[in-house]
Amino acid sequence: MVHHTPTSVVTIERFIIEQERLHPEATGELSGILYDLALAAKMIANKVRMAGLADILGATEMHNVQGEVQQKLDVMANEIIIKAMDHGGRLCGMASEEEPDIIQIPEGFRCGKYLLLFDPLDGSSNIDVNVPVGTIFSVVRKITRSTRGEMEDLLQPGRRQVAAGYVIYGSSTMLVYTTGQGVHGFTLDPSIGEFLLSHPNIRIPDNGRYLSVNDSYEQHWDDHVRALMRRYRGLDGDRRALNVRYVGSLVADFHRNLLGGGVFCYPANAKSPRGKLRLLYEANPLAFVVEQAGGAASDGATRIMDISPTELHQRTPLYIGSKSEVELANEMLSGVPSAVGA
Ligand code: AHG
Ligand code: MN
Ligand code: MN
Repeated sequence: MVHHTPTSVVTIERFIIEQERLHPEATGELSGILYDLALAAKMIANKVRMAGLADILGATEMHNVQGEVQQKLDVMANEIIIKAMDHGGRLCGMASEEEPDIIQIPEGFRCGKYLLLFDPLDGSSNIDVNVPVGTIFSVVRKITRSTRGEMEDLLQPGRRQVAAGYVIYGSSTMLVYTTGQGVHGFTLDPSIGEFLLSHPNIRIPDNGRYLSVNDSYEQHWDDHVRALMRRYRGLDGDRRALNVRYVGSLVADFHRNLLGGGVFCYPANAKSPRGKLRLLYEANPLAFVVEQAGGAASDGATRIMDISPTELHQRTPLYIGSKSEVELANEMLSGVPSAVGA
């Protein structure tokens, strides 16, 4: 007699409804945003899977606000999310890595009480070489009194997020998100076009297995960062060496460390004194996820979710992952073992 472990098939739609029931005051607006994001993720996954075939590879001549050459998939993913999200009546504004300013809800569409900030395609330089890429999203509640969202509504510290997560277009397509009730992972079953609950209540191991860092910048790091990386590598002190794993897509590197335990580091360096990664739609959403999974995220001194933003596309150094590894970074970079994370 073969014993099957009881596995219930739970779609993301059903899970969102069940989660909503935990909040009697819920209006369903946040649930609607998560539904629409799941739809956008399926549409982007479809494009990413076809990228190699539909000859849409290669860089466009257009440049995004970061001054980098924009991959066509970046543009398509950006459009897909905006079109999927702008008429649902739950948002009063959006912000994207690919857009210089706030994205207003078109005239004639109802405005809701939330704002969505997103990196439509993370790791875009990896598209042509078939390395996993991702989408990162963050949801905050409007704090100004106007109907339409304003920049002030976007520039909120990460602790004000009401939902955050990412999609990883890897060997399978997964959507991972939190609304402050733990972290849950869903795997897309392409044969039925549904995200199914595959990783309920994800917890990050306290101690890392992996170190993710691009050490080609070592010559531009300060001595504290160099000393920290030596400690992670077991060259100094009594720690065992972490395995170095770095694919150059934040979402892919983060996801591996979330499940396996590890720390992702993008230090400030002499060439980019505030690091490379963006606070509002890369560091903050992943910081919310990792803290909800029992991990931590800091800029080497301050908890990421306590940083008060001043500009939409501002960058931050990022140390994110297993709590003990991030606490080591804080001790060695700022001298004070701050109590990062929840
Ligand atoms: P994006 O494609 O959205 O600009 O993000 C790329 C980021 C991030 O995904 C990754 O961790 C980092 O760039 C890699 O930077 P380096 O190539 O400097 O290591
Ligand atoms: Mn990115
Ligand atoms: Mn991007």
